[in-house]
Amino acid sequence: MNIDPRLNIIKERLRDVRRVVAISGGKGGIGKSSVASIGALILSKSGYRVGLLDLDFWGPSLDTILGIENIFPREEKGIIPPEIFAIKFISIIYYAGERPLPLRGADISNAIVELLAITQWGSLDFLIIDMPPGMGDATLDIIRLVKKVEFLIVTTQSKVVLETVEKMLRMLKDLKVPILGIIENMKITNSPFVKDWAKKFDVSFLGEINFDKNLETSIGNVDKLLETNFAHSLKKIMRF
Ligand SMILES: Nc1ncnc2c1ncn2[C@@H]1O[C@H](COP(=O)(O)OP(=O)(O)O)[C@@H](O)[C@H]1O
Ligand SMILES: [Mg+2]
Repeated sequence: MNIDPRLNIIKERLRDVRRVVAISGGKGGIGKSSVASIGALILSKSGYRVGLLDLDFWGPSLDTILGIENIFPREEKGIIPPEIFAIKFISIIYYAGERPLPLRGADISNAIVELLAITQWGSLDFLIIDMPPGMGDATLDIIRLVKKVEFLIVTTQSKVVLETVEKMLRMLKDLKVPILGIIENMKITNSPFVKDWAKKFDVSFLGEINFDKNLETSIGNVDKLLETNFAHSLKKIMRF
């Protein structure tokens, strides 16, 4: 029996959050954080109330992508996320700073429980969580702690990435976790390979984002990010 009182608090804290979407995928460097941050911007611009949580303990990067500097949560019976671009934003970086975090599994779990238990998101349409790659502790914790979480899987057409995504999809299905669908990112050919591949798992193929050479130079500038082809493609995809 789990008697950690924080588990009930987490449920209470997320009560008024309509949907929790974890942006996940099998490997690093495939565009999860780009989808999470630009996706959050798009939803926010469309009028939704959006929260954004960077849970990539090893490589938090949402603040870099969005060009966020010098904002901090306020403490008040827990912590209140600062708002930037009308998005409520919390990153593990607030607690770790620029230092690398040498956390073991149990410490990661504890940090996630703590973060979810103290953050006051209030009322949201979407809480977008940027996940570290794969089915590690953080992913299993989010599944355990956030009953209403849905997974959005980012992949590329690389066979190496697809192999890990396949394992993830199977595990998520075994655990009966809802899967919103798959996004193919960094597309460089017209091949329908990933779309066809997705059919065998009975999950929705939500759409594709081409490799966009202007993305890198737009990092840190929200207006430029929203003008990229990446953002235009993601806008069509995020109609859920
Ligand atoms: N469609 C794309 N076209 C070009 N570069 C991309 C694209 N998607 C992501 N990138 C770049 O790839 C790098 C890794 O992306 P990121 O979103 O941080 O991946 P992850 O969170 O999966 O590690 C970043 O430099 C990002 O700008
Ligand atoms: Mg990332």
